Amino acid sequence: MDVINVVGARPNFMKVAPIVEAMKRRKREFTPLVVHTGQHYDAAMSDSFFRDLDLPQPDIHLGVGSSSHAAQTAAIMERFEPVVLREQPDWVVVVGDVNSTLACALVCVKLGVKVAHVEAGLRSRDRTMPEEINRLLTDQIADLLFTPSADADENLRAEGIPQERIRLVGNIMIDSLHKHLERSRQSSIKTQLGLTDENYAVLTLHRPANVDELAVFGRILDALEKISEQLPVVFPIHPRTRKTIIELGLHERVAAMKGLRLIDPLGYLDFLSLYSGARLVLTDSGGIQEETSVLGIPCLTLRENTERPITVTMGTNMIVGSDPARIIATAFTALNERARRPVNIPLWDGHTAERILAAL
Ligand code: UD1
Repeated sequence: MDVINVVGARPNFMKVAPIVEAMKRRKREFTPLVVHTGQHYDAAMSDSFFRDLDLPQPDIHLGVGSSSHAAQTAAIMERFEPVVLREQPDWVVVVGDVNSTLACALVCVKLGVKVAHVEAGLRSRDRTMPEEINRLLTDQIADLLFTPSADADENLRAEGIPQERIRLVGNIMIDSLHKHLERSRQSSIKTQLGLTDENYAVLTLHRPANVDELAVFGRILDALEKISEQLPVVFPIHPRTRKTIIELGLHERVAAMKGLRLIDPLGYLDFLSLYSGARLVLTDSGGIQEETSVLGIPCLTLRENTERPITVTMGTNMIVGSDPARIIATAFTALNERARRPVNIPLWDGHTAERILAAL
């Protein structure tokens, strides 16, 4: 079976790596190709993940780069279509909810080539998020929908998707987490930053709704001012956020916060080493809500909603939005709580890739 595996942006690499690895183990049944759309292209946002995750270099690189949503989605489609026509794959596998996910799924469905979506069925019910549009549309057109948890199956059924297109396989990112947790302990990032376990917090922030608007970003900084007085907050900063800090005139304010340490974006292993040693994580990422839940690290989600409700009901995730009083109160409650509580979520067991291959 010839399978094209699509990667585009940072959160795709740790989802595709275990699938490609499993396919390479089953050489007689699967011939995987890796296609990189180039949605993310900085060394720190892309190259380092291939090394850290033992993901083979892309067989084909589309080199689309950054632009508006329409221009980026269109460029991916234009460049991906000839690849599919040439390679004639049996399946195309897309993951997550980035523009590359939807663009490539749309190309396939128009060509009559089968497409599978990994991490299907997640819904924030917030249509102002570009990712929510990507999720809704990809799930409508994909042939096979691989879901991480039962709530995702329910979402799909409620949208009229027949059960035979849905397979509950678990969380593919946790395959990567299990595989690399031990190895990440060799990272020297904590030593380099002078940190000791559970004596710092980690922050990530890149959603347009948080970092592109002065009022919202300002409120989040109000909260971070208080928290970082008590506990150093390490902030590996996404390129989008680095840009908007300057554009919104927040640079001096951020620089004056002595407890907030801005660092360049980290690769997979360094970042895993960093957050797995943290006392607290603050984030607007989706995947980090899942990773911290599995490790039992308190996670404050700086959004009003989540497409991953199981991390709230079963995991360590707390939805706090951007209201400073709520963020501060929840952070201090979490800091005063007792030790970590790693959780077992059904099928988040490191074997999701095998279940995906079996279904394909
Ligand atoms: C994208 C995804 C988002 C995901 C995030 C993870 C969409 C709609 N959004 O958001 O779901 O959570 O990736 O990082 O697909 N840039 C660089 N170097 C890079 C990549 C981006 O400097 O390698 C800068 C560019 O200025 C670019 C901006 O970051 O315009 C935003 O990049 P883009 O890929 O459009 O969206 P993200 O915010 O990264």
